[in-house]
Amino acid sequence: MTSPFPSTFLWGGATAANQVEGAYDQGGKGLSVQDVMPRGIVGPRTAEPTPDNLKLEAIDFYHRYAEDIALFAEMGFTTYRFSIAWSRIFPQGDETEPNEEGLAFYDRVLDELEKHGIEPLVTISHYETPLHLAETYDGWTDRRLIGFYERYARSLFERFGSRVRYWLTFNEINSLLHAPFMSGGINTPKDEIAEEQLYQAMHHELVASARATRIAREVAPAAQIGCMVLSMPAYPLSPSPADALEVMEFDHSNLVFGDVHARGAYPGYFLRTLREKGIELDITDEDREDLTNTVDFVSFSYYMSVAATADSAKKTAGEGNIMGGVPNPTLEASEWGWQIDPVGLRLVLNQFWDRWQKPLFIVENGLGAKDDLIEVDGVKTVVDDYRIAYLNDHLVQVGEALQDGVNVLGYTTWGCIDIVSASTAQLSKRYGFIYVDRNDDGTGTLDRFKKKSFDWYADVIRTNGASLRA
Ligand code: BG6
Repeated sequence: MTSPFPSTFLWGGATAANQVEGAYDQGGKGLSVQDVMPRGIVGPRTAEPTPDNLKLEAIDFYHRYAEDIALFAEMGFTTYRFSIAWSRIFPQGDETEPNEEGLAFYDRVLDELEKHGIEPLVTISHYETPLHLAETYDGWTDRRLIGFYERYARSLFERFGSRVRYWLTFNEINSLLHAPFMSGGINTPKDEIAEEQLYQAMHHELVASARATRIAREVAPAAQIGCMVLSMPAYPLSPSPADALEVMEFDHSNLVFGDVHARGAYPGYFLRTLREKGIELDITDEDREDLTNTVDFVSFSYYMSVAATADSAKKTAGEGNIMGGVPNPTLEASEWGWQIDPVGLRLVLNQFWDRWQKPLFIVENGLGAKDDLIEVDGVKTVVDDYRIAYLNDHLVQVGEALQDGVNVLGYTTWGCIDIVSASTAQLSKRYGFIYVDRNDDGTGTLDRFKKKSFDWYADVIRTNGASLRA
């Protein structure tokens, strides 16, 4: 098959600091919200880090990054998405000077990537708000967070701006409304947060993101700044207009984040929501001016789709990436109940391109599954045909979208090496091409083993997608 992927297409994988690095108290790092979330978003937080929190050691990328990046290079990665842990650079979050040891660690990671000709794609904030900001300021509900984030982003652009071209301001920024502690460092328990506070926190993050874009233009003019949203297309459960309206409203609650990033102002439907809820946000003239700094590209995660219905008897909350939704009876689901829908990826790509006309970057996609490490011809591996099928089918749909004329910059699979899950904090929910010997009870050698999908992905990259099977 001739490949629809352009020769400039970036291929790679993605991770986040808190899910891979470990070394949670080394190199001058302060605590982040993740260090007190031993059960991910499904369980309660703890007062302090507890030994059962797998993220404290994670997969020890902090010490093994060179070995791991060499494996990514062996697969032929042309890009690697990783996040910088805010609390390594500003341990408390509100200091005035960055922690040199933290910056030096990421210099070493970038050295390694450069050595292998891998383009870095850096997330500035991936669910890693410094814990001090959560406990002292109630996270993003407080306007002062904008200034702290601004200082943090500026330090990164000054230090790495000449080495990093692609930046993402906030991971899955729309998840703030669903997972306020993990996504926005909001310490107030979710059911006690007033809706107004939540929307104010959203506004603060949007302003901070736009300011980062403005700063990058001054400090690192070659940088390309992207927003990052959690995408979850919805289908009407029935053909009734009422269900179609539900889809529109569900879409609006997510698309508003991309609309502001791509168009530079709040859309009318969002202002209507605020009006109808009687919410008056604190939005200054300076904020409005800041928001006009729109992004260069839009990035997003895609794992699954949902259905939407106006029928309250059918409104069940299915499993899913942070927000979940009504299960779609036409789709199969993963072992964790996330519904598998490759065509949904083509729909999202078309929708985002039609709506924003900004280049798109798929920065998360993949299948979380239980793997069995077995021996084949004396070599330890995982025969993960299910993962290969998932990724193949999604990439075929990316090819379709490219043929539809959508501008896609690249694709990074989530958890290219096995990492700790964000929702459940398990290691047994594996996404990687590389198996990491660590179990949910914390045992294991941390040794790395190539899965069958390792060679499969290497082939996809080598052939620039021509080896995919439609
Ligand atoms: C996204 C996050 O929500 O999905 C990642 O950006 C996360 O941090 C990924 O790991 C997969 O979710 P999970 O819960 O399976 O780890």
